[in-house]
Amino acid sequence: QPTTLIDRFNRRVDYVRMSVTDRCDFRCVYCMAEEMTFLPREQILSLEEIAFIARAFVELGVSKIRLTGGEPLIRRNAIDLFQQLGRLPGLKELNLTSNGSQLPRLAQPLVDAGTTRINISLDTLDADKFKELTRTGDLHKVLAGIDAAIAAGFQRVKLNAVILKGRNDDEILDLVAFAIDKGVDITFIEEMPLGDISEHDRALSFCSSDEILAMIEARYSVTASTSSTPGPSRYYQVSGQTTRIGFISPHSHNFCDSCNRVRVTVEGRLLLCLGNEHSVDLRQVIRSYPGDMVRLKQAIIDSLDIKPERHHFDLSDDVQIVRFMNTTGG
Ligand code: GTP
Ligand code: 5AD
Ligand code: SF4
Repeated sequence: QPTTLIDRFNRRVDYVRMSVTDRCDFRCVYCMAEEMTFLPREQILSLEEIAFIARAFVELGVSKIRLTGGEPLIRRNAIDLFQQLGRLPGLKELNLTSNGSQLPRLAQPLVDAGTTRINISLDTLDADKFKELTRTGDLHKVLAGIDAAIAAGFQRVKLNAVILKGRNDDEILDLVAFAIDKGVDITFIEEMPLGDISEHDRALSFCSSDEILAMIEARYSVTASTSSTPGPSRYYQVSGQTTRIGFISPHSHNFCDSCNRVRVTVEGRLLLCLGNEHSVDLRQVIRSYPGDMVRLKQAIIDSLDIKPERHHFDLSDDVQIVRFMNTTGG
């Protein structure tokens, strides 16, 4: 079923990213401030409300949902949500972005529930540096989580690395070697200016995708992959390996003209663009008219009119979007 969601710039939205929680057991330096306050329970959607909104999108032609956070898997009964969404007819991909900490326990139940692909954050292979970058994370648990994901049989496992100059840019080739060794994909991400992290200077730590690609090309033979789906990532295939290397380059290669996605925050705010504040309050719609699928779908259809053409992140160190990444849904 083709999507009925088309915006003013003729972009087709067939992909929704939904945040399951703003909470996380890690405090990654590019994502959160050291002291964070999280949303009170009554403000966040119940798992049933998330599933109801997901169903509306799928009935409108969305074929791909990614659950994000925060860390989705630390929400109580998160697996129930995967099971509910896994049964939605018309949904082709049910994907998860995770920090990996709960995967030793939950990788298999996720696959059994119908989760297709998983992205796991991994910025460094050094245990001390991992502690510095995540503040509260434990590298060994995450590595065990990655192995559990590989063993559980997701269609694809991808690692995400946000590269910060002077922090982990010396590990780029080690991370690629690790991905090749494990037979998984890896994406390098340019940091985005979301939330006042005041931990490091985002302009000074900027590391461009082109620099990273040049480093990789000096060691490996890679070819641009043409098979990639619409969206921000650009992929390269490593010759003779299953591994693909992706780049998400919000600063150096704007990808907004091929944007195929919207986000729903855990407060039920439908955000039309990661780098803008244009949004529609879906929580108000579903709480004012419980069970009214027609009204919810109309609110979603109407929202496409305010999807902005592009984001305008720049490299100055000013806080450009006050909302933090964890409330936005990675
Ligand atoms: P796909 O679902 O395959 O597209 O995966 P992905 O790599 O986009 O998803 P993931 O959740 O792993 O996110 C990796 C990084 O890409 C995160 O930093 C996201 O915030 C960023 N990202 C994803 N979509 C967008 C987008 O539309 N705009 C911007 N600026 N960044 C995005
Ligand atoms: N810029 C870019 N990526 C970020 N992530 C979290 N915060 C930021 C940021 N400010 C990444 C995480 C995770 C993904 C969902 O988003 O590392 O892989
Ligand atoms: Fe948690 Fe992911 Fe943010 Fe790290 S990037 S603090 S793992 S939500």
